[in-house]
Amino acid sequence: MKTNQDIKQGEQVVIVGISGSLREVSYTRMAVQIALEGAQERDAAVKMLDLRDYDLVFCDGSGDEGERAPGVLRLRQAVSEAHGVILGSPEYHGSFSGVLKNALDLMGFDQFGGKIVGLVGVSGGSMGAVNALNDLRRVARWVHAWVIPQQVSIPEAWNHFDDEGRLDDEELAERLREVGRQVARFAYLHHSEQARQFMALWEQALANPGGDLE
Ligand SMILES: Cc1cc2nc3c(=O)[nH]c(=O)nc-3n(C[C@H](O)[C@H](O)[C@H](O)COP(=O)(O)O)c2cc1C
Repeated sequence: MKTNQDIKQGEQVVIVGISGSLREVSYTRMAVQIALEGAQERDAAVKMLDLRDYDLVFCDGSGDEGERAPGVLRLRQAVSEAHGVILGSPEYHGSFSGVLKNALDLMGFDQFGGKIVGLVGVSGGSMGAVNALNDLRRVARWVHAWVIPQQVSIPEAWNHFDDEGRLDDEELAERLREVGRQVARFAYLHHSEQARQFMALWEQALANPGGDLE
């Protein structure tokens, strides 16, 4: 865990959202936005990081993408400053979108290690975004994030959202907000001063405080 992410009493948890769709009217962005509202209900400071604003390049493995594209550094910085991240993706060909994979490839342990991550997905078809969510869960684990079990998949998203981003299904909306609430709560638990004190005690504790068994 990084010490610069510690939350002292009275400080706000910071949760950012990233949508893996660049579409102007994107249901994924709408779903992430609703999840962020849930985090806000738990007093988190929330921010949508719209990948269209970052002018990213392809990750080519050279390690100098940030020198060629300042947007890469800005995105890394914004995620580094967060305690938790809501990742959203459309289902694309049975997985999550390449746009989001590229953004994640441009980042790594430094941005995601020890962060709490919540996942939401949308699909055009009736099968939902479960493949996207499962693949995202694996990739998020690979960059050492803690992915909460709760997740939301919205099948036939075109049939559920209006153009203003409102869902016609309050139960689905509530589940999205719950992802945000849980990310905010677990981010606090994971990064708070009290949690750190607990961890320090944990590490100092005797292996067997009750003494060796006969
Ligand atoms: C390249 C591509 C692949 C897609 N693959 C799937 C798919 O495998 N299953 C599905 O249900 N919908 C699929 N869709 C439909 C999208 O999931 C759907 O349009 C979704 O609303 C897109 O998200 P957005 O509204 O945030 O842009 C695909 C769309 C595109 C452009």
